[in-house]
Amino acid sequence: MLIVLKIIHMFGLFAGGAAGIGNGLLLKKVIDSKAPPPPMVAQTMGIIGKIGFAAVILLWLSGLGMSALSYEIGALDWTYWVKLLGATLVLVPVSMMTAIALKAERSGTPPDLQRMKRLSSIARAGVGIAIIFGVLAFN
Ligand code: HEM
Repeated sequence: MLIVLKIIHMFGLFAGGAAGIGNGLLLKKVIDSKAPPPPMVAQTMGIIGKIGFAAVILLWLSGLGMSALSYEIGALDWTYWVKLLGATLVLVPVSMMTAIALKAERSGTPPDLQRMKRLSSIARAGVGIAIIFGVLAFN
């Protein structure tokens, strides 16, 4: 079971990273163009955003599962908790971005792109912290 969860965790990392970089670059291009993106681009960004959100949920579910199955939480040192702080700094902004994008999709009005950019910067910092302290915690 632990192996399965670890494989899911790695797929989550891959899909989350790909979605974050892909949508981050597209968002920058859209903001720089100062014009609404073509529908095909907006639609693709919506799909990439959903993949990224699903990846973060998978990271959390598999991470919590691995923590419960294989580690005595009290025995893990501070690096584990810093990793969790990083993971939280990913979960919260990515959930907010998903909610903002879904609301925009439903109402047919474009999302606040500057807000999306700020949230994606926080998530990027969170990913960096979670990866560095994840490796330190389980080394
Ligand atoms: C953005 C979110 C996350 C990222 C980027 C991330 C990243 C990583 C990385 C890079 C590793 C490999 C470390 C290594 O084996 O050297 C790892 C392993 C691990 N992660 Fe995460 N993680 C995230 C979320 C979580 C969460 C939320 C939890 C727990 C609640 C968690 C628990 C674990 C555990 C227990 C392992 C060790 C697996 C083992 O026994 O080798 N992770 N994570």
